[in-house]
Formats: sequence, C-alpha cells, structure tokens
Amino acid sequence: MSDIAPTRVLEKAGASVLVYSTAELACQAAADRLAETLKTAVATRGRAVLGLATGSTPEPIYAQLVAKHRAGELSFAQAVSYNLDEYYPISPLDPNSYRAYMHQHLFRHVDLPAHQAHVLDGTVPEFATAEHAAQFDRWISEDGGFDLQLLGIGRNGHIGFNEPADLPLEKALALPTRLVELDSVTRADAVKQFGDASHVLHRALTVGVAQILAARSILIVALGTNKAPAVGLSLNGPMTSNVPASLLQAAPGKVTWMIDEAAASEI
Ligand code: GLP
Repeated sequence: MSDIAPTRVLEKAGASVLVYSTAELACQAAADRLAETLKTAVATRGRAVLGLATGSTPEPIYAQLVAKHRAGELSFAQAVSYNLDEYYPISPLDPNSYRAYMHQHLFRHVDLPAHQAHVLDGTVPEFATAEHAAQFDRWISEDGGFDLQLLGIGRNGHIGFNEPADLPLEKALALPTRLVELDSVTRADAVKQFGDASHVLHRALTVGVAQILAARSILIVALGTNKAPAVGLSLNGPMTSNVPASLLQAAPGKVTWMIDEAAASEI
C-alpha cells in the first residue's frame, strides 16, 4: 500500500476515484501502485506484464519509478512492457516518437531487458500495419494480458489513441489494436510536442479498447483543470464511444482513477 493518502475517495461508475491535493501526490501514489503491482506479480507468477502510457502526465510517475530502481527498491528484470501507442509513420530515432520518449523517461534508466520492452513500430510498411497491430495484440495475450494498464486521458476523453467516434457500444468495446486517424483536439494538443501544427502527424497506432479492458487492473491518471470535463463525462455520463474513457465503465471493480483536485472539479 502507498503511504500517500488521498484527500477523498469516491466510488463512481464501478471505479475507485482517489483524489489527491496535488498533481505531485497523485503521481507518487500512481508510482507506488505500479511498483506494488510489479513486485506482487513477480513474487506470485515470476513475471509482471505492464501496459505503459506516454504524454506529459506519466513523466513524474516514471521519474519516481527510476528513483525507486536507483534506490535498489525496484527491479524491472522480470517485467514485460507494452506501450499503448505510437505515432505513424515515425522512426524510433525521431525525438517525437513514443519509443524515444520511453527510452528517455524509463527504459535507459532501469534494468528492463530490451527484448521485454515493446512499443508499436511506426516504421512498418502501411500494408503491414494491420498485421503488426494484430501481432501486438497476440503477444500481449500470449504473455497472459496486463497485470496493470497505466492510462492518461486526452482532453477529448481519448485513452491511448482510441479517439471519440460514433460507434455502437458493442463495437467500441471490441476495438482491436490498429492504425487510427488522430482527432483535431489531439493534434492541437500535440503542437507543443511537435513544435508546429504542420509537423503534427495525422495518424497513430494504438492498443485497442478490448485489450485495455482485459487488463487485470487499470490505473488512469488525470491532472489539471483542462482534464476536468473529460473526467466528469467519463465518470458521470453514460458509456459512449464519443468519450472513450467512459468505456472503462465496462470493467467494474478493475479501474482506479488517481486524480488531483483540479481534475476532479466536474465529477
Ligand atoms: C497523448 C497520448 C495519450 C495520453 C494523452 C494525454 O496524445 N496518446 O496516451 O494519455 O494524449 O496526454 P498528456 O498527459 O500530455 O495530457
């Protein structure tokens, strides 16, 4: 258990919502949860399978995990990781790639073996993307599925790069890993990363909703007032493909939200 106490705990839409007074505390608690899950899975099954996220939200979480590793408290030697998404097309050497992000924030600092750290490949030929995505889903399933899936949330409610869409619920919940078109809100938010709107890529590979929902536990972190509307809709509103994070309501009892007071303001 984490020593970091939330200021309040809500049960909402089948999820536990832990609200922290600051973003820093929410990230510390999230890092503690990840580390505990990793250790428990390794102790009980000899390995841990983690679904990892990118974006600005997880950066302090990874910094905490690196600190735990450096302090000799946490090893990734028996961990296997799968990242949620990657821009397409992109080289892993491009600093805007999520492979580069993971290398910078986690992989190069810890003892996770290279062949156990999987990121969707932004260099596969376009004709092979469907096959690559299906293969990624197969690897995750053959590894036994995720012990924990870490998620952030987009301002439009996206998880990974599962963007808002008009789909029957049944189809939305079954979305596989695949190549997608990015939403205009997502592209606008990516300008700060790519430096110029004309440089923002329009497509990405993303792990699908079905694989996320199959995780044994899901930890979603949201920070700041600009995430409050998406958090509110995900927890108060109905399950709908127009708010992808609301689809987490289909996994009752498995989802924990760790959020700061600012992000909790519309629940
Ligand atoms: C990005 C990622 C998501 C992430 C989200 C929020 O585009 N694909 O996985 O959760 O958008 O990013 P941030 O944490 O920077 O707000």
